[in-house]
Amino acid sequence: MMKGVKRVLEGRRLLVLAGDVMPLVSPLSVIAPSEDTSGLFLGEDDRGRRIFLNPERLPNMHGVIVGSTGVGKSTLARHLILEARQLGIRSWVIDPHGEEAYARLFHKTVVFTKDKVDVLHAPGWDALEYASELGRYVERIYGFRGARNMIRNVIASCIRHGGLEPLRELSDLDPDIKRLYDDLTSIHGEGEKIEELARRNAYFTLPLMTSRELAALAIQVLLLLLQGFMRSQGARHRLELLIILEEAHVLSPYLLSLFKEVRKWGYSIVAVSQLPREFDPRIFQLAGFVLALSGPESYVRDIEAIFFVTGDERDHILYSPRGTALFFRQGDPRPRKIFLKLRAEAFS
Ligand SMILES: Nc1ncnc2c1ncn2[C@@H]1O[C@H](COP(=O)(O)OP(=O)(O)OP(=O)(O)O)[C@@H](O)[C@H]1O
Ligand SMILES: [Mg+2]
Repeated sequence: MMKGVKRVLEGRRLLVLAGDVMPLVSPLSVIAPSEDTSGLFLGEDDRGRRIFLNPERLPNMHGVIVGSTGVGKSTLARHLILEARQLGIRSWVIDPHGEEAYARLFHKTVVFTKDKVDVLHAPGWDALEYASELGRYVERIYGFRGARNMIRNVIASCIRHGGLEPLRELSDLDPDIKRLYDDLTSIHGEGEKIEELARRNAYFTLPLMTSRELAALAIQVLLLLLQGFMRSQGARHRLELLIILEEAHVLSPYLLSLFKEVRKWGYSIVAVSQLPREFDPRIFQLAGFVLALSGPESYVRDIEAIFFVTGDERDHILYSPRGTALFFRQGDPRPRKIFLKLRAEAFS
């Protein structure tokens, strides 16, 4: 493998020793991975070979599923959950709109605002760091330009205080802060702790008619809590929790920072969206894998703006029937053209 790295780098006229490069360039990012024969079964490629998604062999376990409306993104996501279960991998689905076909795969459902989550109990985070991260995203979600530090300080103070009282005091003075306070109050409470939730399969959703801000805030808080908790559990290289994030574009800025995190914390976020252009393009570069389902010309053009695809690959997903996909893996120069073979239980 070292030889391979050296050869590739020499080909690029870079005069470095392979040993020096290792910390900078993962060998997986320059050498195409060999075909996986284990992991989550996806289907067959155009030559009839069985194709697997093996998150453990990718430099990054996070992934993206894109495709236009109704082409089978959620069905594919349910199939991944079922395949993962077979391998002893737990799963979460975070689904703002709520889809019965997902709910029936889970015993445990958390409906934000009805079921409370303790948003101030953040194991694995230093209080100020958690408050600062939350402040960063709250600023974006609510459009509070320049208020990040103030929000950080008040959230840190809520953590110290053990309740949202400091935020309430501030909200009396500022109607914008009141929106945040009302939303946080509706999510927060004595409910299940993140360490309990992280150890089980769970389905998270929101009631109908929830505002986009509240939905984004609830999901943001949940993922921040999870991020800290998984980190606090120490490094591991086995995938333990697969998280399907529907409508993932609502958290696009945060996804980038999640996808940047190294693979060692044992969880994988699979961002599902019909709007590839709403993601920061770097998400596609960081993702360990991307499954691009079919769609019309405008959608395929979006895919072509992100990846180099040949005419043949393009035709595979352009206006094609459900069940066709391009499967991109980080480090693999070419996507696979696949025909999905999904489990019957994945269909709605
Ligand atoms: N591989 C497939 N082969 C045949 N039919 C499929 C396949 N995948 C999904 N379907 C069917 O297509 C319909 C839409 O599927 P699904 O809800 O998964 O699409 P989606 O992309 O998530 O849609 P939306 O954009 O509305 O979220 C469903 O009736 C589903 O059973
Ligand atoms: Mg869907």
